[in-house]
Amino acid sequence: MVTRRLQELEYAIRDIAVIANEVKQSGKKIYHLNIGDPVIYDFKTPAYICNAMARAALEGQNFYVDSLGIPELRNEVCRYERNKNSIDITPDDILITSGVTEGIFFAISALIENQNEILVPGPTYPVYINYTRFFDGHPIEYEMNEENGWEPNIEDLRKKITAKTQAIVIGSPNNPTGAVFSKKNVKQIVDLAGEHDLPIISDEIYDQIIYEKNYACPASYSKDVPIIGMNGFSKAHLATGWRLGYLYYYDPENKITDLKENIAKMARARLCANSIAQYAAIEALRNPGTHTDEMVKKLRIRRDYSYKRLRQIEGVHVINPEGAFYLFPKIDFKEFPRWKDDKDFVINLLKDTGVCLVYGSGFGNHGKDHVRITFLPELETLEIVYNLLENYLK
Ligand SMILES: Cc1ncc(COP(=O)(O)O)c(C=O)c1O
Repeated sequence: MVTRRLQELEYAIRDIAVIANEVKQSGKKIYHLNIGDPVIYDFKTPAYICNAMARAALEGQNFYVDSLGIPELRNEVCRYERNKNSIDITPDDILITSGVTEGIFFAISALIENQNEILVPGPTYPVYINYTRFFDGHPIEYEMNEENGWEPNIEDLRKKITAKTQAIVIGSPNNPTGAVFSKKNVKQIVDLAGEHDLPIISDEIYDQIIYEKNYACPASYSKDVPIIGMNGFSKAHLATGWRLGYLYYYDPENKITDLKENIAKMARARLCANSIAQYAAIEALRNPGTHTDEMVKKLRIRRDYSYKRLRQIEGVHVINPEGAFYLFPKIDFKEFPRWKDDKDFVINLLKDTGVCLVYGSGFGNHGKDHVRITFLPELETLEIVYNLLENYLK
């Protein structure tokens, strides 16, 4: 007997990799454009950060540490967030987690039960859907307007707030669309949350990976609306496998003290985050280096190339992403009746060409008829992939 909770769990980004492995067994070369992991491409964790981790291990920092995180790291994260976003927080407002993923798990476990609701962007990073359902709640998607560069539709968001709503999720820069929410929209969401006395969960994992627009941090626009902000070391510091992130509470009027105290209990119940990765994270924050800027520089070229190629394919409609490292083109399946839907297309594309994308419906209802493509690979690989994709659609 296995719980319904687990039987219903889906994570398209990795589920598709299972099929890719099967295809690989048949001898076909696989082009992985499904996972947002820069480190499997030509972006490497900087040596000085790796050395800090190795040093910590050799010096014997191999024991369980404080459940909330090593105090020095909480201090550094606090300093970093205060400077970056001009927000008034203290080290007490920081919780070190095993990646943003654990932060999402903690926040949703504290907010969701008994069929209540959480508002997530539609399309959304699927973990928000998974964990909300896991805790017996309903993820409600508010519309992101593709014609308007995938900016959130504030009127739709307003309409979807009910007595059961527990929080609003903002994911900017967004996975899967690459949208960076405008200042105006971020302010409006913060105001709306204030009107309805709701906290905001702000997933900021891509806040350093931006191509044009400036990033608008929700906490910078909030006077009294509580923000549960999340960030980590996976993307900007190229350490996906280390599983380290953090959660910050911006709560000037102490509205979510209860939530904070109960999440701390949850943190104690799971002991602590990786100890030696925390020492590496201290080093990354104290000496930020140039790796993030260099990554963004390379990624801009790959994004521009990918956007240009996709725009040239008939029946494909694509918005140029302003942040993160994904494109989320729409495929007009009326022009391509050979495939039933986005999932059917992605599976067949993988089997026939070895190109591994993620089907848009894996990002919620608003994702259907789309595919997510990461532009992390080098240009030579992208060229092969877009040639294969273009020919396949033809
Ligand atoms: C929006 C978003 N949040 C969170 C994560 C996971 O982050 P972490 O590696 O810190 O758990 C990802 C990973 O792709 C992501 O895209």
